[in-house]
Amino acid sequence: EVVLLPDAAAVGRLAAARVAAVVRRRPSAVLGLATGSSPEGIYAELARLVAAGELDLSGVRCFALDEYVGLPAQHPQSYASVLRRSVVEPLRLDPAQVRVPDGCAADLEAAAAEYERAIAAAGGVDLQILGIGANGHVGFNEPTSSFASRTRIKTLAPRTRADNARFFAGPDEVPTHCLTQGLGTILDARELVLVAQGEAKADAVAAAVEGPLSSMCPASALQLHPRASVLVDEAAGVRL
Ligand code: F6R
Repeated sequence: EVVLLPDAAAVGRLAAARVAAVVRRRPSAVLGLATGSSPEGIYAELARLVAAGELDLSGVRCFALDEYVGLPAQHPQSYASVLRRSVVEPLRLDPAQVRVPDGCAADLEAAAAEYERAIAAAGGVDLQILGIGANGHVGFNEPTSSFASRTRIKTLAPRTRADNARFFAGPDEVPTHCLTQGLGTILDARELVLVAQGEAKADAVAAAVEGPLSSMCPASALQLHPRASVLVDEAAGVRL
């Protein structure tokens, strides 16, 4: 399903409504969380619903999509910190409700395998929130990622490091590696909601939705999923 919306605020509201519907049906729902700019409107709208007493998230469990390798959890740009600021605090969650891959583990492969086991032990993800990279990545599954991949170490593409340099003091500060859920992990979620705003995402959105299934556009894997929604504002949908 592709939904073209007038602006970024409408994207955030509709995606938050999808999350709220899942949680109202199942208060102990398992949510998959993206970081970065794209989901900010979703988290802001969810925070508004929680503050207004219209949504109770106290029973949910959350799993982040990815984490940088080598940034301590206290680093302001680690995804553990970003999620603390954008999700845990505004949504009034207990920090224990949100798990993030351990990008500082001594054994990263073991940490990745443990993350997969934790998702499975929670019963799998009910709704996965996704953004999309300008190069078509989802999570940090960069082009050439296998559609069957599981949580693992990935090298960040130069484009991704350049795009994310805005969050760091300089381009060299952006970590080179990450732990990310695989495309196979993401496709196991029972519902996917991908959001994209702005013209910089227009080519990636068009390739993901209307292009061929291709590991060169990892987001095209969503075409294989029976319940995947792509919510875009006018600018991100301009090449559809
Ligand atoms: C982050 C993630 C990435 C981002 C993507 C878009 O957890 O999984 O796939 O969603 O890089 O980033 P923004 O939203 O900052 O443009």
